[in-house]
This record gives sequence, C-alpha cells and structure tokens, in this order.
Amino acid sequence: MSEGSTDDDQVLAVLREVMDPELHDNIVDLGMVRSAYVQDRTAHVTIALTTAGCPLRATIKRDCESRVLALNEVEKVQLHWDELTAEERTRVMERARSHARSSAAPTQIPARTRVMAVASGKGGVGKSSVTVNLAAALAAQGFIVGVLDADIWGFSVPRMLGVESRLNARPANSNEDRAKIIPMERPEGTGLIKVVSTGLMVDTEETALMWRGLMLAKAVEQFLHDVDWGELDYLLIDMPPGTGDVQMALARLLPQAEMLVITTPALSAQKVAVRVADMATRSHMPVLGVIENMSAFVTPDGKSWAVFGEGGGQRLADEIGVPLLGSIPLETAVSTGGDSGRPVALDSGPASEAFREIASLIVNEISPPIDMEQCSASSMAEVPVTLRNN
Ligand SMILES: Nc1ncnc2c1ncn2[C@@H]1O[C@H](COP(=O)(O)OP(=O)(O)OP(=O)(O)O)[C@@H](O)[C@H]1O
Ligand SMILES: [Mg+2]
Repeated sequence: MSEGSTDDDQVLAVLREVMDPELHDNIVDLGMVRSAYVQDRTAHVTIALTTAGCPLRATIKRDCESRVLALNEVEKVQLHWDELTAEERTRVMERARSHARSSAAPTQIPARTRVMAVASGKGGVGKSSVTVNLAAALAAQGFIVGVLDADIWGFSVPRMLGVESRLNARPANSNEDRAKIIPMERPEGTGLIKVVSTGLMVDTEETALMWRGLMLAKAVEQFLHDVDWGELDYLLIDMPPGTGDVQMALARLLPQAEMLVITTPALSAQKVAVRVADMATRSHMPVLGVIENMSAFVTPDGKSWAVFGEGGGQRLADEIGVPLLGSIPLETAVSTGGDSGRPVALDSGPASEAFREIASLIVNEISPPIDMEQCSASSMAEVPVTLRNN
C-alpha cells in the first residue's frame, strides 16, 4: 500500500472512516484497501471486496468518494475494484469476528460455551431433528447442552424433546435489572439438556399471535439476555428457515457462533451453496461442516434405497469448502422419535449411530468443549460436579 506522501496518508486516514456495512469495521483495518495515492490531484484507490458482485459495493463507493473528495488536494477519485483472495477473505473474516467479539454486548451465555447454529439453505430438511438429536447425543456423553429454539413461531423443539411445561422465572438478583427465565431441564445420562423455546411460553393461540408480532431478532435477543442459562458446554440453536435477520442478530450477540449446515442428498448443491455462503458472509459465522440428512434408507437386511438421491451433502461441502460431518439415513425412528419426545440418538439403529458419530466428531475434532479449568477466570466451580464426573 502506498503510504509515502502526506496526501496519501490523508487518503488512508479518511478511508479509515469508511465502514464495511456487513463486517462492521473500517475497510483499511480490514485489509480491503489495496492501494491509495494521489497523483495530479486525482486520488487512485483500489479496494478488494469479499466477492466481486458484493451488493454493498455501491454504498462503499459512495462513502469512499464523498470522504476522499472532501480532501483539499483532491479533485477527482478513481476507484478500482478487486476481489480478495480466499486467504485474504479468511483473514478479513477473522478480524471482523474478533472485532465483533470485543464489542458485543454481554449475554447470559458463558464465553466458554461452544455455540453452533443449525441452519440450512432450504426449509424442511431436518434442522430441528438434527438439533435435538445432537443435543441428546452430546448430553449422553456427559455435557451440559443448551437448545435455543430460534424458530420463534414454527417451534418444534419442545415436542421433539418431550419438554412441555411452561418456563419459570426467578426474581432478579442484586446486580440484575429484571427477573430471569429458567430453561426447562431434561437430564440425559450424566449430562443435561436445557431448553428454551417460545413453545414453552405461549399458552393459547392468542399469546402465540402476540409473539408473531414481535420482531424475530428481538425475541432471540431476549432469549440470550433474559434467560439464566447457567453453565453450558454447548449451545445448539435451531434456526428458523431462511431468515437473515436472526442470523445477523445471533452473530452480533454471540460472536463465537459457528454454523452447521443441513442438507438433503437431493438438493442441487450449487443453488443451496450460494445461499449458505451468503448467510455465512452476512453474519460472518464460519461454517463448521455439512450434515446430510435423509440419506439412503437402509432395510434390516442391509439393502440401501437412496429415496432422496445421493451425494448432495458431499457436493455442498465441496462447494463451500468445509467437511461433510456425516449422513443421517432416512429412518422412521427419526420422525417417531421426534413425535414421542425421545430423540432416536438415545436408542439404537443406523440413524442413531450416525447422530452419535457426528456428536463424537464435534467433541473430539470439530468443536471440542472449551476447558476453562486452567483459566483464572474459570467459573467451573459452579458446575454441579455430579453432572460432569459421573
Ligand atoms: N432422517 C430422517 N428420517 C426420517 N424422517 C426425518 C428425518 N429427518 C427429519 N425427518 C422428518 O422430516 C420432517 C422435517 O424435519 P424437521 O422438522 O427436523 O426439519 P426442519 O428443517 O427443522 O424444518 P423447518 O424448516 O420447517 O423448521 C419431520 O417430520 C421429521 O420428523
Ligand atoms: Mg425446524
């Protein structure tokens, strides 16, 4: 980058006031300004965008031009566009994440909690089924797992986990300004599942309708601020189908959130990949991997029927450059388990095994629990020992 003369430095200084509207940081510190110099009273600025077709290009252009033109010695601005390399893009995202982390409002979610948003590029592919089954499999391994049902009016988590009573609240303590909601708890083996969903708040259709009027993002924000989650190793978030504002709110409130993408074997990877990549970029949430659901149906005698096609999970994973974490077969027990409130992951069979394998992969490789025991800020003393060591 050209930083030689005072003029050039002044150009850089004003460019530092130009924010990338999605990444919430200035374009200079994000490393998006390739060069900036003044020659014959014309400022030449080269900006590399995350993607060439970035829809925010016009905003950035307007902002750059107006600021640079305000400089005395500049009469004209020549903007040149470039695209960040994959490596640069990763660096930019990391920077944006760490920036968001340092400026995020505190939530009730402990900093050590691994947060995974279960999302998809298309509805009805099994996000909720995967969320509750992974939660059950992780809890069965002894972890404390929160499940936040971010599908505010399409909630299905309470039924799928067999948790039905209304949520309770406890009074505010001395350093809180209002009462806190207590999640419903479902012990599982040596672990524990904590559930919060609008399904546990509404009594009647009318109250459900009231929630309908509420901004989605606002409801999610309340679930993070007004719920006393206590200790959590993992927080799984069942995302509503295709709503950008919830993703954005989550990323803002929980900068540690990462995304698990669910797809079926049939989906045309390219179309879905564009949507998923867009979702990840808009929220700057890294994608941990893809889980294929409704894969080949396996008969008891071992025959395999690819009812919904084949290979969609791998294609999507390749397309967005992340690992395929596993494939869940199509199995009646997944849906009956969902209806009866006992996730199939707690029983046996091919789908159950697949869920448990993915949970182990998460724990051992993809997103291992953060152990704060060596950390001076550890609050592990508050975790009931019985829950962790049994
Ligand atoms: N592997 C599977 N085998 C059999 N049935 C399944 C499987 N996965 C999901 N289902 C069933 O498919 C339906 C849709 O699943 P689910 O509700 O989990 O999807 P979703 O992505 O959360 O949907 P939405 O976008 O509406 O929130 C449910 O009836 C569920 O029981
Ligand atoms: Mg769902």
